[in-house]
Amino acid sequence: MILDDILARRRSVRGYLPKEVPEATLREVFSLAQAAPSNCNIQPWICHVVSGENLQALAHKLVEASEAGIAPDPDFRADRKFPGVYRDRQVDAAVQLYGAMGIERNDRPRRDWAYRRNLEFFGAPHAVFVFMHGEFEEREAVDLGIYAQTLMLVMTSRGISSCAQGALSLYPTIVRDHLGLDPSNRLIFGISFGYEDEEVPANKARVGRETIDNAIVFHR
Ligand SMILES: Cc1cc2nc3c(=O)[nH]c(=O)nc-3n(C[C@H](O)[C@H](O)[C@H](O)COP(=O)(O)O)c2cc1C
Repeated sequence: MILDDILARRRSVRGYLPKEVPEATLREVFSLAQAAPSNCNIQPWICHVVSGENLQALAHKLVEASEAGIAPDPDFRADRKFPGVYRDRQVDAAVQLYGAMGIERNDRPRRDWAYRRNLEFFGAPHAVFVFMHGEFEEREAVDLGIYAQTLMLVMTSRGISSCAQGALSLYPTIVRDHLGLDPSNRLIFGISFGYEDEEVPANKARVGRETIDNAIVFHR
């Protein structure tokens, strides 16, 4: 696949088949993603890939915490309200997603269910949790974003679907305890991945993008 096709094909997938990605493919994909550039080549991504029953056990803990009403305590602020056009884009994406799922705006129980599917990795057999060192801030977070896109594009090229999820960073202590990590590992997001279940209504959602006339300023 050439890059144009890969870019067009990659989208967030929120429903997966229970089939695992072969170990050799997993290793190949993560090896290729190591090519991501980073400031001074420090490669600040610390990735933990969790699969199969181990992932289901973690999903259970995350859902339990959410249902018990335990307040999220993310390592990085996750409660910012988006202003202006950013809010418009957020609403548009939500309209597309909930529309595909047939969930009305005021249907709280089903919206809560849709949110909880985040914590169940949308049924994916794998997730990668992306951490960075506790002293790092925005500059290194940029590197993690570039890494994530590199990884997701490589996955797409191998027929593997994914969904980056800030929602997977809401209970970092539970994730760290599950993985045996100390708090110097700060969790910024997770990515669920595996093979798409095309029957899942959420996967019919398509979100658009701003035109370059509105997004890019060319200076001469
Ligand atoms: C850092 C990051 C965090 C995200 N967090 C979530 C999330 O918690 N739950 C979710 O369903 N989608 C999440 N997304 C997916 C975005 O909603 C999605 O990328 C955006 O709407 C564009 O759609 P597309 O990926 O299908 O092109 C996240 C994406 C990124 C890059």
